[in-house]
Order: sequence, then structure tokens, then C-alpha cells
Amino acid sequence: MNILFIGDIVGSPGRNALKEYLPKLKSKYRPDITIVNSENAASGKGLTRKIYHEIHEAGADLLTMGNHTWDKKEIFEFIDDVPDLIRPANFPDGNPGKGYIIKKVGNKKIGIINAQGRTFMPPIDCPFRKLDEIVEEVKQETPFIFVDFHAEATSEKLAVGWYLDGKVSAVVGTHTHVQTADERILPNGTAYITDVGMTGPYDGILGMDRDVIIQRFLTNLPARFEVTTGREQCNGVVIQLDNQTGRATKISRISINEDRPFFD
Ligand SMILES: [Fe+2]
Repeated sequence: MNILFIGDIVGSPGRNALKEYLPKLKSKYRPDITIVNSENAASGKGLTRKIYHEIHEAGADLLTMGNHTWDKKEIFEFIDDVPDLIRPANFPDGNPGKGYIIKKVGNKKIGIINAQGRTFMPPIDCPFRKLDEIVEEVKQETPFIFVDFHAEATSEKLAVGWYLDGKVSAVVGTHTHVQTADERILPNGTAYITDVGMTGPYDGILGMDRDVIIQRFLTNLPARFEVTTGREQCNGVVIQLDNQTGRATKISRISINEDRPFFD
């Protein structure tokens, strides 16, 4: 089974880059399922119904979220209606939406779980214990389990990767927007990368207008961050799983920008 995962779509430049590269990536890697982190898709923060459909129609089979899940208030109106959207599972009990999903892929099933870190982030439920609970349930149905772990601290991401090694097929990190070069398969068969990177503006700071961010550092005054424009990039990973065991056999980074153009 091949999984294509595309990192954090930032605003309209991210959606443009997704529409440009996803068809090419699909014909190159032939994924069985495509998962797209979309928590920054609506002007950098959150997701609207219209943009959910836009990303879905661009070729995402499932959208995952993160700390900006609730930033666009209209999400409360549609999160429980749309089928292919999950938000971090360790948000407090009773939050709208769902934290994991089991999807059919051909004659197989795959469980996809979204969780969020707590280090340098809002205090929420323990991701380790919540992941344990869900993995236990999902593995009754399928050995194919994919985790999008949305977190700030490299140490927390590595800890989740090693904690779940051998229990899930893959743990990929999102949120920090800069792709890390540490992709590997852990000894018990879990594919891991600390951060897949973002899809959106190439010349901003994490996708945002550079001048505003620099001024913020210089003055420490509040500033309104805006998604920047210009050149675009697309980042992600493609992961191959053994069709019987669900263990990862390969993880490759995808990083497309003007310095590293796409090749078929
Ligand atoms: Fe985030």
C-alpha cells in the first residue's frame, strides 16, 4: 500500500501548489490513499467548508488538522457533516469532529489518526495515552495505521515515533512547516519523519509575509500575520507499506520548489 501525505497547505498559494503538483505526484507514485494536512488552508488559519471541498476535489482522500482547527468559526457547522476530515484526537472529550477514521482502500482498510503535541502548545489531553487507546481499537480491524502528529517540539515528535514503533505503520510530523531530513524506518517497522514541511509560499517565513514577522521580532509589538505571495513549494512524503503486515518498507521525502524542480 502506498500512502501520499502532503504537508500543511498554507492559504491560496498552498491550494494552488496542491492543484499543480498533486496530479503529477499521483501519476509518479500511484498512491492508494492521499492525505493532506489542511489546518492552515484558509488564509493561513483554519478551514472553511468551501476550501474543504476544494482540497477534496483536488485529490485529497482525507484532510487532517491541528492547532488551528477552530480558527474559522464556520467549521463548527460542517465538521460533523463532512466524511473525510479529522482533527487531533486528544482535544478534550466532547469537542466536535473526530480524531481518527478507518477508510477502505481497495480490499484493505487503513486507520488514520490525527494527534497534537503539548510541548510549547495549548494544554490538551495526553497524546501518548490517547494514541494508545485508538491504536488498540484500530488494530482490531487493520494493521495499516497512519498517524499525523501535529507538534512543535522535535523531542515530542521523536518520542511519539519511538513510542509507536512497531504499533503503527507511520508517524509523520506536521506543524513546523520546514521539512526535516530525518526520514527513516524505525527498527520495528514504523516509517517516521519529524516534519514533512509545508505546501504554500516558498519565500515567506513559514508561509507568512516576511516583513511582518521580522518587524514582530524587532519590536515585539503585536502584528497581523498574512499569507505571502510569490513562488510556491510543495512538500510531503510517500510511504510504502508491506501489503500483508502493514510494516513500512520505504519512506521518501517530496520537496518541490524552484531550487528542486519536479521530475517525473
Ligand atoms: Fe499548526
